[in-house]
Amino acid sequence: MTMWPDWERNFEIARAALDWQVEMGVDEAICDAPINRYDLPGRVERAARPVAVPPAGASGQPATADPVAAARAAAGVATSLAALRDELAAYPHCELRQGARNLVFSDGQEGARVMIVGEAPGREEDLQGKPFVGEAGQLLDRMFAAIAMGRAHPDPRRALYITNILPWRPPQNRDPSPGERAMMRPFVLRHIELAAPDILLLMGRIPAMTLLETSEGITRIRGQWREVGGRPALPMFHPAYLLRNPAAKREAWADLLELQARLRELT
Ligand code: URA
Repeated sequence: MTMWPDWERNFEIARAALDWQVEMGVDEAICDAPINRYDLPGRVERAARPVAVPPAGASGQPATADPVAAARAAAGVATSLAALRDELAAYPHCELRQGARNLVFSDGQEGARVMIVGEAPGREEDLQGKPFVGEAGQLLDRMFAAIAMGRAHPDPRRALYITNILPWRPPQNRDPSPGERAMMRPFVLRHIELAAPDILLLMGRIPAMTLLETSEGITRIRGQWREVGGRPALPMFHPAYLLRNPAAKREAWADLLELQARLRELT
């Protein structure tokens, strides 16, 4: 029988515990300093995790049992983008808010002619509270710079306004569930109304499915003009997809040229 020194045994136990957590999907530490739970005094009773649920939206609407109806009511009372953000921040029904660091509402210029709707914040977006600031976002910025447009462009004709279907990061960047998409849809539709862009770009499968209420795949519908709330909407490949499939950049470029042509037509 092998007799391990204590330190080696403790190391192996700690490593097994860490491996188990990684296997369960833990991908980041949430405290600056580690906590040795074996050293905590007494037995810690397991209590249900308190959930910070506001009793009512900023609109004063009572929380209702139907999350989609509640979302419609809350979004409907917002008369400005700032008010819509407040309504989202107060909306209690989407559990993703519990795990997110920040609500990611929008970036870019209000009043831009082009509004981009993406899927959901990832890790970087959750940390910074802004959409499309990670690797996919950097590609997005380069794509639009190629047609002289950008989120920080001072000219509204060349500026972009950017949001996502979900304002909170889903755990492990999983796809939003149908329930989460249905809850957020009224907020995104109101967001579009209030931002009033000339053209919408639907970046990827999730915004296309959610706003067009279609089950058609993005490969089939990208580059085809559709309508959302009476505005022209162009589904495109998501930049994260382009990072994985660089050959599809050819189609993305064609879609950017299509956007340019449509903007000229509408001027
Ligand atoms: N992907 C998205 O769809 N949105 C983001 O904000 C970041 C990555």
